[in-house]
Amino acid sequence: MPLKIGVIGTGMIGEDHIRRLTQVLSGAEVVAVTDVDAARAKVVAARIGARQHESGEALIADANVEAVVIASWGRTHSAYVLAALDAEKPIFCEKPLATSVEDCLAIVKAEAALGRRLVQVGFMRRFDASYMAMQRLVAEGRIGAPLMFHSVHRNVSVPASYIPAMILDDTCVHDIDISRWLLADEVAAVTVKSARRNSKGRPDLADPTLVLLEMAQGGLVDIEISVQIGYGYDIRGEVVGETGTVTLATGQPVDLRSAGAVSGHVPEDWRERFIGAYDEEFRHWLTAAAAGGATGPSCWDGYAATLVTTAAARSRASGKTQAIALVQKPALYA
Ligand SMILES: NC(=O)c1ccc[n+]([C@@H]2O[C@H](COP(=O)([O-])OP(=O)(O)OC[C@H]3O[C@@H](n4cnc5c(N)ncnc54)[C@H](O)[C@@H]3O)[C@@H](O)[C@H]2O)c1
Repeated sequence: MPLKIGVIGTGMIGEDHIRRLTQVLSGAEVVAVTDVDAARAKVVAARIGARQHESGEALIADANVEAVVIASWGRTHSAYVLAALDAEKPIFCEKPLATSVEDCLAIVKAEAALGRRLVQVGFMRRFDASYMAMQRLVAEGRIGAPLMFHSVHRNVSVPASYIPAMILDDTCVHDIDISRWLLADEVAAVTVKSARRNSKGRPDLADPTLVLLEMAQGGLVDIEISVQIGYGYDIRGEVVGETGTVTLATGQPVDLRSAGAVSGHVPEDWRERFIGAYDEEFRHWLTAAAAGGATGPSCWDGYAATLVTTAAARSRASGKTQAIALVQKPALYA
């Protein structure tokens, strides 16, 4: 029997997840959708034969919905996660888990009180073949102890709904999560600097941004975030260890040599670059959710990432390094 899923938010990624749940993966049926943009949800509901709800709360309460995908704007996630936890339904929540530390902690507390994991957070880089190979090599000690990680995150452009705070809490949050995962460490301090502004971009965005993470075991991470780079969606990474380095593959199947030049393809957006990773994270989620649980990136990971993005926002405002202190980790996430 396929798992009956309700999707909250039928925007760019909500639509893409509905496509993979209905056309790519097996074991899922999207039975309900909702969006504050009711016209948008109506089109999707009609296309896939799902019920349209007037709110996320109504969708979660629908007895026919066995598991919930949350793909609305980040600042709306926490209320839906808490409601779905209350209904004890498995949840896939797009990143960020929540945009405030308090909301993340309320979720961690609610899930820990249940005593079992129900939430998987959409940090899909952990399911990308290239990042997985990098993590495995680092964990096996193939480059000695990891000392530094260089991370580059470049977007072609951002939509009008993208507000300045999203540079840190919506975009950089991926690099923060992958840094914690690759280095198997927590962030102890963060410093943020804005570079000379990209004059080709929106005047309200301090873009590009450089973020420095100081890890608890002494490693350093530098992250470049450029959200209006124009030329393509470019994700790069290199871990520097004591005896070697591991660099992410740039992901193109061929090099073109023509007219005295070598050229290759740069992905257009995250859908293209991470298509395999999104499929894989949902394969894992479907298996765990069908068994009434969750796997992969947890609420703890969501909390740790938001703790860093909120400290990063303070660093950007003050120009000063911000120290980071995590609460005691509940046994559920050990
Ligand atoms: N994992 C990734 O790589 C990745 C990539 C893109 C987006 N995202 C995340 O997915 C989420 C959505 O991003 P998007 O790019 O699809 O944005 P989007 O603006 O294209 O879509 C969001 C949709 O949510 C709807 N919405 C807003 N508030 C709502 C609410 N309270 N209830 C129901 N619907 C609501 C909007 O009307 C819109 O249709 C964000 O949290 C974003 O960070 C993750």
